[in-house]
Amino acid sequence: MDSRLIQDMLGVTEAAAFAAGQWVGKGEKKTADGAAVAAMREALNRLPISGRVVIGEGERDEAPMLFIGEEVGTGGTEIDIAVDPVEGTNMCAYAQPNSIAVLAIAPRGSLLYAPDTYMHKIAAGPAARDAIDIDAEPGVNVRNVADALGKPVQDMVVCFLDRERNADKIAAVRAAGARVRLIGDGDVFGVISTAIEGTGVDLYMGSGAAPEGVLAATAMRCVDGGFQGRFLFRNDSERERALKTAGLDIDGVLRRDDLVRSDEAVFVATGITSGELLGGVESGDRASSVVFDCQTRSIRFIETIYRRAGDGSFTL
Ligand code: FBP
Repeated sequence: MDSRLIQDMLGVTEAAAFAAGQWVGKGEKKTADGAAVAAMREALNRLPISGRVVIGEGERDEAPMLFIGEEVGTGGTEIDIAVDPVEGTNMCAYAQPNSIAVLAIAPRGSLLYAPDTYMHKIAAGPAARDAIDIDAEPGVNVRNVADALGKPVQDMVVCFLDRERNADKIAAVRAAGARVRLIGDGDVFGVISTAIEGTGVDLYMGSGAAPEGVLAATAMRCVDGGFQGRFLFRNDSERERALKTAGLDIDGVLRRDDLVRSDEAVFVATGITSGELLGGVESGDRASSVVFDCQTRSIRFIETIYRRAGDGSFTL
């Protein structure tokens, strides 16, 4: 992907993060999300792209902005865009770590149009990419990933969303002798942290939202990490929606490259609240972001400081 476009996308997540940042800790997750959505849409619409939102705020009739299928930009490179202006709305509203503004882009037609349902997920960094198997028992995955990483099982850290539906897997991982790190929200962070040394997370497992699965899978493709998913439907209408939109076997294993079908994809995230990976924008002019770029197989951390104008505003 063109490096100018990547830089432009950084400006888009920064705009969303700054907008949401005004609402950190105010207990109003919908307001925070609304501000970030509006800022992200405005920023996207200034860019010389022909962007199509494939993962956004919902279907056209339920989302006024960044709805699925919405075209954004002033015209130019044809791309698919997956957005989550505030990933971790609760973390933003309650000033907890790791809320991020995130998007993924790829050439038109290459990001999966994921329905708003749940997805079983498993992910590991590049060294353990081939050791994960979504159909294997949790204990087997833990042992195989430990072997691939060359570390004892008792030192392995497996990250899960803290949800009742993940309880059996959490118990199985502990029974296998590994450690469990529970996160309250934000499984995009959970997945990508397996690919970044220093986070302490070796393996991600459990179910979360499917759209977030596509965003996280994009980052994992960029660094040749491992990601597998499987839709988890709560009712027939979710299943029917998936049948209409996904365009693949909705009961089968979704491999990383089924979700992201291009080596030109890019994943960008900017911190809203401070966390292990990124600083937050709560109180200042400084944005802290990460860019995963498939073409260069790189992860770049970028700090941006915007100078305010005399009236206190700044131009993104
Ligand atoms: P929001 O930012 O939309 O609140 O989503 C946060 C999140 O924790 C995601 O990271 C995760 O995939 C999903 O919610 C899990 O959904 P649920 O809270 O219904 O288990």
